[in-house]
Amino acid sequence: MACIGPGRLCARVEKWCQLGHSIQVRRRTSNYVRIKQFGIQPFTRTLVQSCQSHHRRTLSSIRTQQPGSLPDYQVDPYRLLEDDLKDVYDDIREELQRNTTEPELKTIATYYFDGQGKALRPMVAILMARAINYHMYKEKSGLLASQRQVAMISEMIHSASLVHDDVVDQADFRRGKPSVNVLWNHKKVAMAGDFILAVACMMISRLQDDDVTITLSQVVTDLIQGEFMQLGSKETENERFAHYLTKTYRKTASLIANSMKATAMLAGADESLSEVAFQYGRNVGLAFQLVDDLLDFVSSSAAMGKPTAADLKLGLATAPVLFACERYPELNPMIMRRFQEPGDVERAFELVHKSQGLEQTQFLARKHCIEAVRQASSLTDSPYQKGLQVVTDLVINRMK
Ligand code: FPP
Ligand code: MG
Repeated sequence: MACIGPGRLCARVEKWCQLGHSIQVRRRTSNYVRIKQFGIQPFTRTLVQSCQSHHRRTLSSIRTQQPGSLPDYQVDPYRLLEDDLKDVYDDIREELQRNTTEPELKTIATYYFDGQGKALRPMVAILMARAINYHMYKEKSGLLASQRQVAMISEMIHSASLVHDDVVDQADFRRGKPSVNVLWNHKKVAMAGDFILAVACMMISRLQDDDVTITLSQVVTDLIQGEFMQLGSKETENERFAHYLTKTYRKTASLIANSMKATAMLAGADESLSEVAFQYGRNVGLAFQLVDDLLDFVSSSAAMGKPTAADLKLGLATAPVLFACERYPELNPMIMRRFQEPGDVERAFELVHKSQGLEQTQFLARKHCIEAVRQASSLTDSPYQKGLQVVTDLVINRMK
């Protein structure tokens, strides 16, 4: 994994990315409308270009490599999976509603399943399931009911974590509407999050596959650990980026990676094929969060449906700040005091924009997308396999 920029931090990030890969390997051996919802943001295209030109300028002086180009296939994954996806939210709501007799719990628990999200997780889970099925059985195998359940479970675990997260972050908005904690008291909201998770657990146990149960349970432990890690900070630059990458894997990538792996296992994939699914998801997940962290600095609140510069206000130093820190060491004490002093948030925001931090973050996200494309290319050619490659383009170019 090569990285943009002349800094020492880039060289170290390169090593951590490789390390992350080998840790995972070791551990394993023990509708069109939505594509529009992602939006293609000219800004990020500009970032890519500026990133590449910066890269060319520094090519002779640092050990690095071109990130390559992302695919330009004419497959729309949401349209491809329209039939598979159209009832996912209805089915989740029904599953939640029939497991409680408490009207208010029904309302709170189903609040985020309004069909307004990107449905990235169910879409990618079903895409991977179909790509793996095709790889193993060609036309003979359609989507298994159990694989569709994993798509639903994945979205449910995700939403359960968002419900909790909005309480922890004292959020105001999500997806353009008041967040759940604004409308109901925190005790009820926390229990509604637990309820979604509990129903997801029942659905996992109905799959009656121990390895899939372990794989999906790992996600929940990772989510909680990732969130816990976010509450703390590290003193040195070195520790901070490693801490950030591990936190990012746990908070975001683990859910996508392990859901991919679960769909592969349900198809009867062997270890190495399940690992391809896992690594695809891990890389897409890391890229997704890196872009999310970048958008927090560049996207408008209206586009995001939630406030921007929110991470700094929450005291969080994400990749753009960590990269910027190398050029502007005055960010170090601000990171340590979690941007609590008056003017910290504004100054840090300005320094990130003056530095190459946004381009470097974009570059790193792009590297992960390219690795995801590489993993997907080891599967037999099919529209689904192409769709997996298109997803990386949606992730890198999204505007919300
Ligand atoms: C969003 O982060 C939050 C997450 C991706 C995970 C949150 C996890 C927990 C609260 C642990 C509990 C988990 C379960 C399953 C009960 P963000 O704040 O960076 O993103 P945002 O801007 O969308 O809020
Ligand atoms: Mg949050």
